[in-house]
Amino acid sequence: MRGTCFLRFAKSTNFPHSLISIFFMEKITWKPGTMLYPLPAVMVSCGAQPEEYNIITVAWTGIINTDPPMCYISLRKSRHSHGIIEKNRDFVINLTTRELAFATDWCGVKSGRDFDKFKEMKLHPAKADKVKSPLIAESPVNLECVVKEIKELGSHDMFLAEIVAVHGDKKYLDAETGVFDLAKARPIAYSHGKYYVLGDFIGKFGFSVRKKKRTKVNRNPKKR
Ligand SMILES: Cc1cc2nc3c(=O)[nH]c(=O)nc-3n(C[C@H](O)[C@H](O)[C@H](O)COP(=O)(O)O)c2cc1C
Repeated sequence: MRGTCFLRFAKSTNFPHSLISIFFMEKITWKPGTMLYPLPAVMVSCGAQPEEYNIITVAWTGIINTDPPMCYISLRKSRHSHGIIEKNRDFVINLTTRELAFATDWCGVKSGRDFDKFKEMKLHPAKADKVKSPLIAESPVNLECVVKEIKELGSHDMFLAEIVAVHGDKKYLDAETGVFDLAKARPIAYSHGKYYVLGDFIGKFGFSVRKKKRTKVNRNPKKR
């Protein structure tokens, strides 16, 4: 009723459209929670020797500093990987793709206490340059991380780590430009309990402020 009356009034008075939509905007309010999406869902590999190697899927992860390059992963104490990483003080973040989506989910619902996840998912551990933990060979990008600090936050412990080496699969290098094209790997994102393949390219960093190139118009076609 309130809405109908307002709409009638708005139509009769040329009320601005933007304000009409604000009037009708209704929000649900939840209790405080972790509704910050989309996030990466990465496979974190750990372990100092093959018998200990494990993979855990992690969404609570991110970059926290540029120089030195630093990141975090947050793990529950109950995770098998928690003990391994706490002991060895290093891990590898492996980016995930459409092709790796099944393994990403599986490594996030099964524990290394019960399974050899590399074997079960037919993934191959590869030697890292600077850490004991193995890379996942099938991942397009691997970040070797050394733990600097472990912060107990409540449900999760946050492992603050320095990124000490980064590897990219050569098959994603553009043959002409030599530029690494991560989009070709079809990276996946995790949003509110669901996985998505990244979609449309809509602009480069800074596109909102970049001046459009003016194409020169030749007003006198005879003059070249
Ligand atoms: C998409 C996804 C994201 C997850 N993110 C986290 C996370 O950020 N931290 C965490 O402790 N567990 C997370 N989990 C749960 C663990 O991956 C899961 O409990 C796993 O079985 C633990 O393996 P582990 O016992 O071999 O270490 C996630 C699971 C999925 C499927």
